[in-house]
Amino acid sequence: MAPQLRHAAGCSVPWLSPAETLRLATITAPRRRDQFLAGRWLGRQALAARHGGLPQDWQLSAPADATPQVTGGPIVCSSTLGLSHSGDTVACVLADSALGIDVERHGRRVLDLAGLADLALSDVERMYWLELPVESRQVGFLGWWTLKEAWLKAHGRMLNPATLRGIVALPVRAEAANARLWCEADFTLALVGLDAATPLDLATPSPSSVVQWWQVSEAAA
Ligand SMILES: CC(C)(COP(=O)(O)OP(=O)(O)OC[C@H]1O[C@@H](n2cnc3c(N)ncnc32)[C@H](O)[C@@H]1OP(=O)(O)O)[C@@H](O)C(=O)NCCC(=O)NCCS
Repeated sequence: MAPQLRHAAGCSVPWLSPAETLRLATITAPRRRDQFLAGRWLGRQALAARHGGLPQDWQLSAPADATPQVTGGPIVCSSTLGLSHSGDTVACVLADSALGIDVERHGRRVLDLAGLADLALSDVERMYWLELPVESRQVGFLGWWTLKEAWLKAHGRMLNPATLRGIVALPVRAEAANARLWCEADFTLALVGLDAATPLDLATPSPSSVVQWWQVSEAAA
């Protein structure tokens, strides 16, 4: 990323689309600018690897609260991109259907984990969560959190504390899953919106990686 991020301090990044340049100009925090640029470059790398051309040949839209659309490139392409950032980690998924992706770095101390769990977890999720050893609860909670955020993104919805408990994520067998969770040593990553027909072309997880299948759905009101 270094050559692409070298421009981050200024406003001129030649490979950004006009929409992305406008959006970048509204982002003032240096880390957020870097995340924005890294996500946009990673997305272009995925497009070039899958559909051809060079990363800089691809153009993306840049809504502040929706997934980016492919607006130009060497071929007409209906693939959709999903992006997520946390600290210096950036994740991207390129698919032919709406997938949601979310990544969260481990290690940031959560001051009121129990309060957050009350806010975000349904009764049945909370029951599973309380069965975890105390030292595993923060990372365990991030599993539910990333699955819920990824579900929101797959459905183009916004984060709303009032509805988080109504999105329910439960571990299931692979055949019944619509979501996959990777728990690595320093981050958790969730992908939601899979079905049995979704081909997964994934990087090999690290030997310490824990991979689980989940079903995420919205509980009836
Ligand atoms: C969707 C949402 C939950 C993800 O937020 P997040 O975890 O902070 O951010 P992530 O880094 O994981 O993902 C951001 C990326 O997801 C995409 N995205 C943003 N909102 C999206 C949405 N509603 N649906 C699909 N994708 C979305 C964008 O590509 C964005 O990256 P970019 O801005 O660099 O292009 C969040 O954007 C949201 O709802 N925000 C508005 C409301 C809010 O913040 N409320 C707080 C109340 S507690």
